[in-house]
Amino acid sequence: MTITVILGAQWGDEGKGRFTDALAHDARIVARFNGGDNAGHSITIGDKVVKLHMLPSGLFRQGCLSVIGNGCVVNPRNLLHEMADVRAAGVEINPNRLKISNSAHMILPGHLALDAAREATSAGLGTTKRGIGFAYMDKAKRSGIRAGAMAEPERFAESVYAHTVEVNKQLDREYGLPGVDATEAAGAYGAASQILKPYLADTLTLLNDALDDGQHVFAEGAQATLLDIDFGTYPYVTSSSASIGGVCTGLGVPPKFITRTVGVTKAFTTRVGAGPFPTELFGDMGTRLRGTGANAWDEFGATTGRARRVGWLDAVVLRYVVRLNGISELALTKLDILTGLDELKIAVGYKVDGGDTRAYPQDAEVLARCEPIFQTLPGWHQDVRGVRTFAGLPANCTAYLRAIEAATGALVTLASVGAERDQLILS
Ligand code: IMP
Repeated sequence: MTITVILGAQWGDEGKGRFTDALAHDARIVARFNGGDNAGHSITIGDKVVKLHMLPSGLFRQGCLSVIGNGCVVNPRNLLHEMADVRAAGVEINPNRLKISNSAHMILPGHLALDAAREATSAGLGTTKRGIGFAYMDKAKRSGIRAGAMAEPERFAESVYAHTVEVNKQLDREYGLPGVDATEAAGAYGAASQILKPYLADTLTLLNDALDDGQHVFAEGAQATLLDIDFGTYPYVTSSSASIGGVCTGLGVPPKFITRTVGVTKAFTTRVGAGPFPTELFGDMGTRLRGTGANAWDEFGATTGRARRVGWLDAVVLRYVVRLNGISELALTKLDILTGLDELKIAVGYKVDGGDTRAYPQDAEVLARCEPIFQTLPGWHQDVRGVRTFAGLPANCTAYLRAIEAATGALVTLASVGAERDQLILS
């Protein structure tokens, strides 16, 4: 009766899926607790690469149930497309393998239109334009439509129609934009709800029953703590709880069951979208860490294809994330990308407003003024892609990991050294 939690420890795209795959082998349930189809990770099945945005990765494991929890927001049209892609790769999806919480909120066509409209103005935040913020806005405003409404497709379609008509007035009034076709929206969403209806469930009861039965539940975080609505670099954040509290509020499970919390971080830092990034690198070193886009693992977004911003590892950020979430273990991804650099830097503090600090400033404007204080370490030149144990890593690589542990207060217990499924260090 335990919950293992995997969380993004930076600004997202850390490679969480790799470790879900490796650590959830005995999980009876893999559950998403936050976000929507703004998330993205690629899974390789045979010679096919499938991009997951909303579906929990438990679908790729026999005998494992996948749950989309109440803390998520669901776009039914996109979900059906994703289900079709996953099926095309030979993976079975049926209502015994996937459950959607009745209490998850729906992303409606109007939410997508409003997200796109705001992104086209100077108030844009660099969102994924998946309607996430506007769906959560309706949830918080207590005017949202929940997934359970799909149980009655006709009434659901009427609600979608009414919502679209209201949004159209707003699009005209605030942005001078033409509206969305409300009849088409209602028709498409009504049709999608007919198909998704059998997948609806009381996932709170289902999860708590499994935990009371002694089953292992794996909680799969999307996005990351620095994108969390409360603890991230507000306002440059997503609209859900991507940190530890989101597990309880987004699944309806009590904290007493959480026994292991793993934070996933790249061996350097990346972020997409706007917002402060103290260790950001430009020029040749930026290109070196980002890659050109020629490789699947280069730093270009799975959901939007956007080039990611890159920088040195920021241990001030990581220390904050470790403390806030109670992370005891860090999983470090893309260690192999650092091979060949003569020296490496880790931000261990910031200079800001005339003083030095080790504390992460929660105000994005203060963070934007921070200059990193770097610890510089020698790099390594030996290829680490074939290494499968921590003991097998080059001495300078081990020293890099020890420096991260010293600066963050968490142990590095897991690592990835290449894009292949087995290029992991698990001990
Ligand atoms: P939204 O979640 O689409 O509203 O976007 C808000 C911010 O979160 C933007 O900076 C996005 O780039 C970022 N974001 C959302 N989802 C992800 C993700 O899965 N990985 C990385 N960044 C994300």
